[in-house]
Formats: sequence, structure tokens, C-alpha cells
Amino acid sequence: KRFVILISGRGSNMQAIVQMAKKRADIEIAAVISHKANSAGTVWAAEQGVPTAELLHKDYPVREEYDKHLKELVQSYQPDYVLLAGFMRILTPIFVDAFPGKLVNIHPSLLPSFTGLDTHDRAIADGVKIHGCTVHFVTPVLDEGPIIAQAIVPVLANDDADALAARVLGMEHQVFPAVVDYLARDLLQVNDEKKVVYQEPV
Ligand code: GRF
Repeated sequence: KRFVILISGRGSNMQAIVQMAKKRADIEIAAVISHKANSAGTVWAAEQGVPTAELLHKDYPVREEYDKHLKELVQSYQPDYVLLAGFMRILTPIFVDAFPGKLVNIHPSLLPSFTGLDTHDRAIADGVKIHGCTVHFVTPVLDEGPIIAQAIVPVLANDDADALAARVLGMEHQVFPAVVDYLARDLLQVNDEKKVVYQEPV
């Protein structure tokens, strides 16, 4: 299966996926695309021999114009799946509707709690004792869409947002590659109730 990965900068989730894909003949990372110039993630991916591209949001004052060009760029790689790995931009239906069932995001909270930004600050402020991350199919509504997988971490008494973010990120690096493995093996389906169901591996 062919995957295109969209990133915003650091790209540590993307790195975890690329490392895992290296061991797999059935997974090709067709491209890593960033909306920022010279991001650490694209530099790293290029060093690994993964095709990279930049489509800079600052060149497109109108969001829909950006999304139209991003759609065309992603389509040019003919991906089976498009992974939003820390892609910190809201995508309009112009983009999202072009990849039905193919678009997968990772969000740093246990959805449906804490959609949007600053999830770790808000988890601490609300006093939750369990936090985590969610990988989900993307629909045009932000941080909605069928949940594929979640991983949990404890919130510890002295946590600040950075400490909690680091703990969650460690889980992100495990759960996103695991989902890519399942996607590559066609083990995930969305049923009539819009819930993700897993097939038994053979
Ligand atoms: C991750 O925590 C992701 O869930 C969030 O932004 C962070 C991106 O990290 N939305 P990286 O670019 O994958 O290192």
C-alpha cells in the first residue's frame, strides 16, 4: 500500500512510521509533505531517501486555494492512504472529500474529549487522571470521524503540559505505526454505524 504523510514540522510520528515501513515490502511511503519550509521532518525524510515536497500555506492567502493545490499534489502520488501526522492545519471539504475512507489523523487526546488545540493543558486543568491519543478516520468535522485506535497514559500529580505531551507522544509513536500496519494489511473496515471494526489477522 502507498502512503502519503502530511506534517507540520518536527515529524516524529512520521519518523516512527517511516522506520516501521523500512522493514515492510508491502508499505511504501510515497511522499512526506510539509506546509512549512525546511521543516525538520522533511529534512530527515529526504536523508532517508523518502520523496519529500513542500506546499507552503503562506503562499496561499485563501484556505480553499491551498487545499485545492494540496489535494492535487497528494493525488499526484496516487496514495492508498493519506496520514495526517501532526499536520496542524484545518482541512476544508475541498481536500477531505477527495479522500473518502483514506484520510487518517492522530490527535493528542482521548477523543471525543479535548478536540482542538492545547489538549494537554486542558487535560491538566480539568484534572483528568487518564489521557492519551487517538488515531481516527477524518471527516469534514474537526477531530471527528470513526476512531481506529487509542492509547492511554496516566496524568501524574506534578505534570505540566510538556511532561504530559512527552508521555502521550511516546504512545503516539507506537499506536500510529500499528494502525499503518493494519491499514496495509486491509484489516480495518468502517461498518454501517460508522464504527471501525477489525478483522482477524490470517
Ligand atoms: C503530535 O502530538 C500530534 O498528535 C500533534 O502534534 C504533534 C506532532 O508531533 N497534533 P510530530 O510532528 O509528529 O513530532
